[in-house]
Amino acid sequence: MRQEDDHSVLFGSGDELPSNHSSNSHFNELINTGLARRQVLAGGAALGALAFLGAALPGTSEAAPAADTSQAQPLFRPRTRLPFTPVAISRADGISVPAGYQATPFIPWGTPITGSYPAFLEDASNSAADQAQQTGMHHDGMHFFPIDAQRGRGRSSDHGLLVLNHEYIDAGLIHPSGPTVMDGKRVSAEEVRKEINAHGVSVVEIRRNPLGDWEVLPSARNRRITAATPMQIRGPARGHALLQTRYSPDGTATRGTQNNCANGFTPWGTYLTCEENWAGYFASRDSALPRELSRYGLRSSSRYGWETLAGDEFERFDATRKAAHAAGDYRNEPNHFGWIVEIDPFAPESVPVKRTALGRFAHEGLVFAPVKPGRPVVCYSGDDSQNEYIYKYVSRAKYRPGRSNGSLLDDGTLYVARFDANGRGKWLALDIHDKAFQKACRAAGVSFADQGEVLINTRLAADILGATKMDRPEWGAVNPDNGEVYFTLTNNSSRSEGDAANPRPANAYGHIIRWRERSWNYAGRSFTWSLFLLAGPESDSLGPNGQPLNADNLLASPDGLWFDPEGRLWIQTDMSGNQLRSGPFGNNQMLVADPKSGELKRFLVGPLGAEITGISATPDFRTLFVNIQHPGEGSTAGNLLSTWPDGPGKRPRSATLIISREDGRRLL
Ligand code: FEO
Ligand code: CA
Ligand code: CA
Ligand code: CA
Repeated sequence: MRQEDDHSVLFGSGDELPSNHSSNSHFNELINTGLARRQVLAGGAALGALAFLGAALPGTSEAAPAADTSQAQPLFRPRTRLPFTPVAISRADGISVPAGYQATPFIPWGTPITGSYPAFLEDASNSAADQAQQTGMHHDGMHFFPIDAQRGRGRSSDHGLLVLNHEYIDAGLIHPSGPTVMDGKRVSAEEVRKEINAHGVSVVEIRRNPLGDWEVLPSARNRRITAATPMQIRGPARGHALLQTRYSPDGTATRGTQNNCANGFTPWGTYLTCEENWAGYFASRDSALPRELSRYGLRSSSRYGWETLAGDEFERFDATRKAAHAAGDYRNEPNHFGWIVEIDPFAPESVPVKRTALGRFAHEGLVFAPVKPGRPVVCYSGDDSQNEYIYKYVSRAKYRPGRSNGSLLDDGTLYVARFDANGRGKWLALDIHDKAFQKACRAAGVSFADQGEVLINTRLAADILGATKMDRPEWGAVNPDNGEVYFTLTNNSSRSEGDAANPRPANAYGHIIRWRERSWNYAGRSFTWSLFLLAGPESDSLGPNGQPLNADNLLASPDGLWFDPEGRLWIQTDMSGNQLRSGPFGNNQMLVADPKSGELKRFLVGPLGAEITGISATPDFRTLFVNIQHPGEGSTAGNLLSTWPDGPGKRPRSATLIISREDGRRLL
């Protein structure tokens, strides 16, 4: 979503304003920014002592080719693993894919999936109750679970559960003529309930019909989880005094999940939805905010004004102290958000669980390292806000195929990344029993009562450890060929000076970083890293082949990231504002990179104003699911900035794309 607007105004952008005011180093004392940048942009051959920038990781056999191409060409050019003609940039209000491919919209906002299956009404007059039985707004992270994947993996490629996030809502589109507001306050409980019900997650059972087309099945497994669905809180923060609320005096339960951006899925067949820009849903009028609110950017007004309505279901979004005790008001309600929520899509009655051991921040997504029986599970998550951090979690118990479950995510160690200028890095433990953490707390003059309090204050704990401030960490992905972990850093207008891992000040275009755990030990504390890609125009970019980007692959603001089973990296963009309207990049897009060859080609361009996000495939790799989020962002009923996918005169709707080859073969 857009990040330039001020969300103090009702219905503005929900992106967080920077709230990291710690003095952590940008490593500018270790590296001359201008030099680093010139060397990065010069490409592989010029890197020399700074070989970790833009070139191969130490020891990798997948070196990006050097910039010097003057030598004789090899006799046999290896067959490309990207055998399609790149799509040109476009500002059309439609979808472009390469020749030989097709992309079909599926389950747009408002598709009936459960209950009485209420039909979508084009004037947006569906009720709040209807919305709770239809797909939500603004599709985001997504995963296809083969129908035989109850305990992990699964092979079915023509029947499964498509599970997807609905990140936020456009108040201008969700009601027939926008929201009703009087004196800066919401006045319609029905409208706000509809907005609450358009958030969360959809579970949709889908199957290919005899013609080969995907259809929604009327299924008892279909489910809407909303910003009001009852949930459990587990892990070290469960029952903490800072989680006590009027709804849950013992701090073990909560309602709803919201601003669910990217996602994850576990080796045991469950879905993980990640709470990103949740802070903007709350308001506190207290003059001084406790650290667990201030460090997350809580403000005196909220994005949608839900808290301005009377009644417990709305007052919970008001974190102002009103009672004598925390159990008498909702001062702690924001502490119930910023977590990762586990959902069992195969058990429609199951209660979603907030897993506090994974930390509290603006979670973009969660990606698992490959699991091995008898080894801990390891997963990575970025905190998508300017100058925030990248984290990793290592379970205490070992993975046991067919027997492990979500309890592995309740007991383990959370680490935060420090990227050193010499191309190495360290994972720093946010663990109250860890000597280094205790020492850092003493040095900073900060104390935590217990591990639950550390996790509720994850950002502060990471500040204390001296983690590296990053340029808005978005999705991560793990290369199945060699175990390298890739992360997008989408942009960071507030970076004043570059550092080694985030080399461009006022980074408008974003980049992709990657690392390899030392000795391939995902649970370890050391890694080596390099930059894979600097996004931007030809004059200010570096592709994975060591060359500037060109017309076939210009991109900016990388966000979604996914490795296909054959080790190709799919990159989705989330440009906004002027970059989208008038930059050289056209509409948001999806590209494919081959880390082995350094090739990068544009595969898809989306409609006007839309972000491309969410990606998953069937095991046979014949169907790719991709989400189109907020086409015509900022539209109102009287001013449609896009009419995708339904055509002229119709409100734009977020939707899933089903992408396949016209000849029905594997996608690549
Ligand atoms: Fe919701 Fe970080 O994108
Ligand atoms: Ca978005
Ligand atoms: Ca995103
Ligand atoms: Ca984004």
